[in-house]
Amino acid sequence: MAEEIVYNFRNSAELYEAAIDLHDKKNMQQKETWIYSLNSLEQIDNIIRTGEFIVIKRDGRIIGIISYKKGTSFRSFQGDIQKLPDEWEICGLLIHQHYRGKGYAKQLFKAAMRRLRERGATHAYAIITGVFDEGKKGEVREISKPAESLCRGFGSQVVGFGKHSWGPVYKVPL
Ligand SMILES: CC(C)(COP(=O)(O)OP(=O)(O)OC[C@H]1O[C@@H](n2cnc3c(N)ncnc32)[C@H](O)[C@@H]1OP(=O)(O)O)[C@@H](O)C(=O)NCCC(=O)NCCS
Repeated sequence: MAEEIVYNFRNSAELYEAAIDLHDKKNMQQKETWIYSLNSLEQIDNIIRTGEFIVIKRDGRIIGIISYKKGTSFRSFQGDIQKLPDEWEICGLLIHQHYRGKGYAKQLFKAAMRRLRERGATHAYAIITGVFDEGKKGEVREISKPAESLCRGFGSQVVGFGKHSWGPVYKVPL
């Protein structure tokens, strides 16, 4: 099977179709697997404007996506909103259900880290989706646990919480 990593992937329509395929549309609509940054063509175009999509294709079909964008915002431990327009956020990590557990996410995450290092960045932020309950801040929804474990594996530290879902926000050393 021919696999390739494609950098600077800019076809937003193909990315959106792939996001639906990778998520399973029903889950996406019920927000079971919903990834904010891949949720609309507008979101995808926003990322293309300031950052980059990197995809893994297998026999011409996208099976994994990651992206990074300029600017992030989240809640500090005290609860106030931090806006960091010059920092980088790694987002939109999604692997097709049939291809999970094979190292593709790690490969994409490392590729994004390398591309950010090449731009001179020393760290990036990753927001893991929580359970939308302020009382349970820092708790991660079941489906996001692998993503959290992946982030931790890179020596990342929690620096705050997501604005809406109250999941942990990791500062990832590059
Ligand atoms: C998160 C996701 C991208 C991981 O993709 P993947 O290709 O299966 O991950 P990999 O095989 O590269 O594994 C990388 C690391 O993720 C973690 N991981 C992967 N699967 C895991 C699982 N079932 N349970 C716990 N940790 C897991 C491990 O830390 C693993 O590192 P290790 O192999 O050294 O232990 C995939 O599960 C996914 O698409 N989930 C739905 C979307 C999502 O949650 N995105 C993030 C939103 S915050």
